[in-house]
Amino acid sequence: MLSIPECPADDNAGRGPAGGLRRTGSVRNIRDCTGLNNGLQRSLHPSAGLKPLFVSAAAMTLSDPGAPTQPANQVVLIGLMGAGKSSVGRRLAKRLGLAFVDSDDEIAEAAGCSIPEIFARFGEPAFRDGERRVIARLLSADAQVLATGGGAFMNDETRALIRRRGISVWLRADLDTLVQRTARRAGERPLLNGSNPRPVLEKLMAERHPIYAEADVVVDTGTEPPDDTASRVLAALVASGRLPPSLAQRASAEAKP
Ligand code: S3P
Repeated sequence: MLSIPECPADDNAGRGPAGGLRRTGSVRNIRDCTGLNNGLQRSLHPSAGLKPLFVSAAAMTLSDPGAPTQPANQVVLIGLMGAGKSSVGRRLAKRLGLAFVDSDDEIAEAAGCSIPEIFARFGEPAFRDGERRVIARLLSADAQVLATGGGAFMNDETRALIRRRGISVWLRADLDTLVQRTARRAGERPLLNGSNPRPVLEKLMAERHPIYAEADVVVDTGTEPPDDTASRVLAALVASGRLPPSLAQRASAEAKP
């Protein structure tokens, strides 16, 4: 199987303002999926002086994934497509003074093509393999807010790493909200292409919600502005007691309306 490297095989071309690859437009023509063809041979980032920027997912698999051994320094957003992980995540990062990273953007950059192209050309298993490895690399970074793709938390290894490296926040939305929100970026989500999104999302809710429920923090989201959701996430993070003290202080100041 062709594989997506953990790190981009190229420079910062195509990066959006927050450092992530823009979701649309620029992605398609960057390297035409060459990251997939190059696989792990080019998994060292050139700017890192040939030091690995990632930790292999296998090396990070824990014997006791249930026990965090260090303060959680990453805020990891999970939830179904359309839950608002990226828009809320960007706002959270800004208010916490942290970097924001979107795992789908990083996967697209590592692969050199968009998520729909990865699915279409190489299939979902290649995407899932890349997703697992890219997220393992992202979780080895310093404090940041990480928005993950809807399927990421379903992977046992990824879930264990998130538990170890961060504090997970499930943005829980009802079916109507998800249907409404996913319609806005129709075509960017291969699992929803070519079929009526409602039953697909309903099925995914049934399969995934029991696993998402393992998140450290659960925040319900609906039609309110993403800034309001971000405020409630900040309050929930503070209440969880799992943030390092410096972040907790800032989060509690920022959570106030
Ligand atoms: C997926 C969700 C997408 C993306 C891919 C698969 C899923 O991310 O990773 O299309 O399996 O739910 P978003 O949740 O950001 O849309």
